[in-house]
Parts: sequence; C-alpha cells; structure tokens
Amino acid sequence: MTSILEGDDGRFIDKAVSLLKSGGIVAMPTETVYGLAADAANPEAVARVFEAKGRPSFNPLIAHVSSVEMARIQASFSPLAEALAEAFWPGPLTLVLQSCRDGSVCDLARAGLDTVALRHPNHPLALMLIQELGRPVVAPSANASGKLSPTRVQHVITSLGHGVDWIVDGDDFPETAQIGLESTIVSVIGKDIRLLREGAVTRDDIQEATGIDPTLGQSDPFRPSSPGQLLSHYAPDAPLRLNADTARPGETLIGFGDIEGRWNLSRSGDLREAAANLFAHLHAADDLGQPIAVAPIPTHGLGLAINDRLRRAAGAHGNGSEIE
Ligand code: TXA
Ligand code: MG
Repeated sequence: MTSILEGDDGRFIDKAVSLLKSGGIVAMPTETVYGLAADAANPEAVARVFEAKGRPSFNPLIAHVSSVEMARIQASFSPLAEALAEAFWPGPLTLVLQSCRDGSVCDLARAGLDTVALRHPNHPLALMLIQELGRPVVAPSANASGKLSPTRVQHVITSLGHGVDWIVDGDDFPETAQIGLESTIVSVIGKDIRLLREGAVTRDDIQEATGIDPTLGQSDPFRPSSPGQLLSHYAPDAPLRLNADTARPGETLIGFGDIEGRWNLSRSGDLREAAANLFAHLHAADDLGQPIAVAPIPTHGLGLAINDRLRRAAGAHGNGSEIE
C-alpha cells in the first residue's frame, strides 16, 4: 500500500483526501461498486451526495471505515457483531448497529436514526482514502438515483458527469467491482440478525459463521421490501405540521428562508444547508415536547428529499400532509 502512496496514485489520493476534508465529494472504487464518498461527519458534504445523485428521499447511508477500531468508535459491538466483523470484514457485509453517542457519523447520514450502518470495504484505494481522512466516509453507489451501479470510472462519468469533485481511478485494480453488486446489509440489534439487503455474503454464509439464521427484514411489516424505503426512519414523538407560515399557540416552528421560527433551516433559502440542518432541528424541536410546525420548503432539487422526509415524519402520526 505504501508503494501506491509514493507513486502517482498517492498524489491523487492526497488530492482526494484534501477534497474530502474540505467538504468535497469524491468517487472511489470498492470491491462491490464505485461509491460516491463524503466525510460522514460533515452534514453539508453528505447533503451534496444526495444532491449529486438526485435522490428524491434521504435514505440512511452506509459509513465506510478503514478498520474495526474505527468502527468501534461509531457503534457498540455486541459479541454477535464482533463475530460477523471477524468473519466477513474487510468485505461486502454492512452491519447496522446501535450508534454511539460520541460517534462522528452525522444525523443526515443516519437519516436521524439512532443506528448506524458500517462497512469495512476490501479495496486498497478506498481503505487508504478513509485511513488518510482519519474517520468514516459515507459512500452510496456513484450513480444517479435509479440508474445502474457503476463498476468502471466511465460509468461514474456517464451517470454523474461533472457533479463530482474527483474520481479515484481504480479500474486497473483487480479488487475493483470484483463483486459488482452492493454489499449485503444485516441489522444486528440484540440477539437477532435481520437481513435487510441481499448481497455476496449469503444467508447461509451468515448462519455458518454465527449459528444464527438471519430472519428476512422484509417479513417485518415495518420494513418494506425495497431497501431505503424503510419506515423506521426517524420520526419525532411530537405531531408535525407541514407548510406552516406561522406557529399556532403551543407549537414550535422550524423556519425556512423569510419565515422565522425557533430555528431556521436556512435563512438564505439554501436547500443544501437546510438538508444539513434538518434532523438536528427536528431532534431539538422534539426535545421541547411540543407539537412541531415546519415552514414550506421548495419542491425542487434537494427540497424534494426534504419534503419526502417531512411527509414521512408527519405521516407517522396519521395527520398526513398537505404538501404539493
Ligand atoms: O456495496 C455497498 O454497500 C455500496 C458501496 C459503494 O460500498 N454502498 C452502498 O451504500 O450501497 P448506500 O449508502 O447506498 O446504502 C444505503 C442503504 C440504505 O438504503 C438502507 O437500506 C441501508 O443502507 N441502511 C443504512 N443505514 C441504515 C440503518 N441505520 N438502518 C437500516 N438500514 C440502513
Ligand atoms: Mg445504489
């Protein structure tokens, strides 16, 4: 690995790392597919990832680590989680675990959940990038939302064009897209293993390694079949009213643009800033224990994902939404 750092690729990795440090978004090869990486601790950078992919909703993202030690800072590892990491890391298995309070993966990357998805990829360039950054990167597949996952640099360019700041070229590495399919995802909360997304690590592999047959996440009514459509996204305890111009008595208003509230998602109307603040403001408002109202958010660009998230949060209380 050091020889790569010393050569041309090293300069490119340095460049990619400094871009990540300053909030940039960088495509990187992994053994599954190319990922679009951003500093998982930087909510504005994470918002840029959603924006570049044109995702109409905020799915929780996978935080990629360069070591088990780095993962243990982010989540609490039960003996079962340790066994899975021991058996399959580095490799195409993502573990959804209880996140640690002092973990660095931001609210937006976790979609406000108190769990975090962690993966230790098996690719020298991805590992170098994360190691040099010194903390996890989120990395959804580096393609526009709804398009095929990229296994070559050219696929990234075709799909995301100039929307990314840098592409780490791993096309010549045998590890690159060796699997060609996104990682298997299991949630390991308590003594159960639940399969949330199938991938190269199979149910049988998991049973063999742990003696536990993973139940299909899909069989749970609160977990519909399509990954990312999980209903278990964070929803505040308090009722939530959308498209509010003013606070009604007893409500906490979260403002946007000219509509002031207890907090403002973005005074200048910047959707990237609003996305970055969304979950933190929702959590803070929820902590006050009063009904929450949110100012109207434009329905274009990242605003689509913000509105989707707000609708789900409001829908959790059966009061629906009047948006659009
Ligand atoms: O192979 C892969 O995993 C690729 C490469 C680039 O590493 N990455 C990837 O990441 O597919 P991403 O962020 O697109 O995966 C997101 C999916 C979500 O749609 C959801 O299914 C699951 O990971 N996920 C993330 N956090 C979760 C959580 N806290 N609870 C449940 N599922 C979660
Ligand atoms: Mg994808």
